[in-house]
Amino acid sequence: MTQLLGVALRGTGSCLPARVVPNDEFTDVLNLDTSDEWIRTRTGIRERRFAGLGETSASLGAIAARNAVESAGLTPHDIDLIVCASVTPDLMSPANANLIQAALGCRQIPSFDVLAACSGFLYALSVGSQFVRTGAAKHVLVIGTEVLTRTIDFTDRNSCILFGDGAGAVVLSGTPVLNAGVRTIRLYSDGSRQELIQVPSRVTPNPPPGPPQLQRLDYMRISGREVFRFAVTRMVELIEQAEADTRELGLSGIDVLIPHQVNQRIIDAALESSGFPKEKVVVNLDRYGNTSAASVPIALDEALRTGRCKPGDTVLLVAFGGGLTWSSALVTL
Ligand SMILES: CC(C)(COP(=O)(O)OP(=O)(O)OC[C@H]1O[C@@H](n2cnc3c(N)ncnc32)[C@H](O)[C@@H]1OP(=O)(O)O)[C@@H](O)C(=O)NCCC(=O)NCCS
Repeated sequence: MTQLLGVALRGTGSCLPARVVPNDEFTDVLNLDTSDEWIRTRTGIRERRFAGLGETSASLGAIAARNAVESAGLTPHDIDLIVCASVTPDLMSPANANLIQAALGCRQIPSFDVLAACSGFLYALSVGSQFVRTGAAKHVLVIGTEVLTRTIDFTDRNSCILFGDGAGAVVLSGTPVLNAGVRTIRLYSDGSRQELIQVPSRVTPNPPPGPPQLQRLDYMRISGREVFRFAVTRMVELIEQAEADTRELGLSGIDVLIPHQVNQRIIDAALESSGFPKEKVVVNLDRYGNTSAASVPIALDEALRTGRCKPGDTVLLVAFGGGLTWSSALVTL
């Protein structure tokens, strides 16, 4: 008989490229018809990171993963499964998870990718949690990693100012305490609205040196205004569902909300509509922009490292994006 286990969040890690790109670079270097003031007031973003030469989503993901394994007090040899979320993997095949397994020197464990755009990390967390809960794996590495800036059209001011590169990771471990760690995960999708955000083909792992330029034939396309409305509606629903879940589980409430870092105005509108307190929300989009599947695990790692959330806190993770997909996870740290 399968003995179900609790799924503890045992370690976190992240990796941001060194190159900081302030808003002014879009006007001063790329000659785009925009301004620092427009970008700040309409999105909340001040700067973001761009992957440099030799950096790819697999290489950033491997560093984040190594940091997470270290913070869990484990070694790569202890890991039983790797699940990696990315819309910008180095290759169509093998999976980024395979590349990261090799980079870390793990055993010949299963490793595979999950693709659910900006919800990808929470989808991957759901997969990893179920391996741990059933005892099929003891320690699972879950990674979200992206180099979205290699998918964008730098002549399109509607989209190119929004995104940044980076990676975040967590280690999930089985615990006999059932009422710990990952409490609930909710995943949704609506493929009938697929055209609202699309990345038509894979990124180049070897962009030419120099300033960002057109590096591919097909670029990410977004319908910003429609995605904005979808994001606010779904974020409100996910918060309200999670509040109901905490009551059902007998928890005292949500201590910290870590939303997908997409636009300060989306977050503010959802908070206003749901009545969720602003002071409980972690925001770092001003420094990193939207890093898609990496956004939630980067913010979680930062929040833990800076003491913004602490062991014992109940944290709500919320994400939404291409697919369309939307998702949440309620985790007791
Ligand atoms: C993209 C986004 C920032 C645009 O903000 P907005 O307030 O909705 O702006 P609108 O799309 O209504 O555009 C308003 C005007 O600003 C202009 N504009 C757009 N980007 C601009 C920029 N970077 N600089 C200056 N002006 C800009 C538009 O051209 C438009 O001008 P017009 O009225 O003359 O046509 C916002 O909709 C958003 O964040 N959407 C979600 C982003 C997304 O899809 N993320 C990926 C999935 S998670």
